[in-house]
Amino acid sequence: MSEYTTIVTETRGRVGWITLNRPEALNALNSTLAAELAAAAVAFDRDEEVGAIVVTGSERAFAAGADIKEMAGKSARDMSVDNPFAPLEDFARVRTPVVAAVAGYALGGGCELAMMCDIILAADTAVFGQPEIDLGVIPGIGGTQRLARAIGYYKAAELVLTGRRMAADEAERAGLVSRVVPAADLLAEAGAVADRIASRSLPVAYAAKQALRASQETTAAEGLRLERTIFASLFALDDQKEGMSAFAEKRAPEFRHR
Ligand code: CAA
Repeated sequence: MSEYTTIVTETRGRVGWITLNRPEALNALNSTLAAELAAAAVAFDRDEEVGAIVVTGSERAFAAGADIKEMAGKSARDMSVDNPFAPLEDFARVRTPVVAAVAGYALGGGCELAMMCDIILAADTAVFGQPEIDLGVIPGIGGTQRLARAIGYYKAAELVLTGRRMAADEAERAGLVSRVVPAADLLAEAGAVADRIASRSLPVAYAAKQALRASQETTAAEGLRLERTIFASLFALDDQKEGMSAFAEKRAPEFRHR
């Protein structure tokens, strides 16, 4: 059992599971949840026995946004200096690949949290959106940037400027979601994807994520240079020798996982 109050964590095989657990608020991200989520992800990231992380919510809500009731009375100073979402920057930076398993509402900060992950799997019940405009604010933990990169400026602009919600199938067509599955299968599918990632070499998974992230954070020229450097450096690892020898010997590779 974990010591957290707003999330539940568990390790299954080589996968670390984080389940958001504020059912009374549809998993709204308050400052405690943001801090606990980041702490749990960083702890899994430091654990060599964990090769992938799954973040999920409930059947009804992945997360219905930042906690509006907690935020309502805050000042600009509170939100900038004591920024309750600052810990989520640590969450977004973990080296370990993270799969978001989204059922129900992923609105505002919930959609932004999903976009801090590397793969988004959606139940057919999932609903995505950035409704902050209806609250007199804008997305504040990455929504304007990550959504525009994920689905393109014009579709992101429509969602952010109108607050319109997008169902799972539309999110898949738009490229936000990699796959939509029946709600009953969501956790099994997320577990299978995470198991598959975690069965490979851990440093190679870190390297792949680092190079992919460059595509979102830097210029194409910089990203290509980084990719080339990382690719060459992987030839210093036993796992490259093992992977390529196994191919030539027609057997399954045995990666060291660390
Ligand atoms: N913050 C705090 N509490 C929330 C919440 C949120 N984001 N979303 C839902 N809740 C609470 C509700 O207040 C309600 O609590 P009570 O029972 O005590 O009244 C409980 O969760 C259940 O919610 P509803 O009764 O509203 O459930 P519903 O099924 O009728 O509607 C919903 C579901 C459409 C998701 C609706 O709750 C909703 O619109 N939520 C807010 C969505 C939103 O605007 N998110 C953006 C937040 S701002 C943000 O995220 C900023 C940022 O970028 C950092």
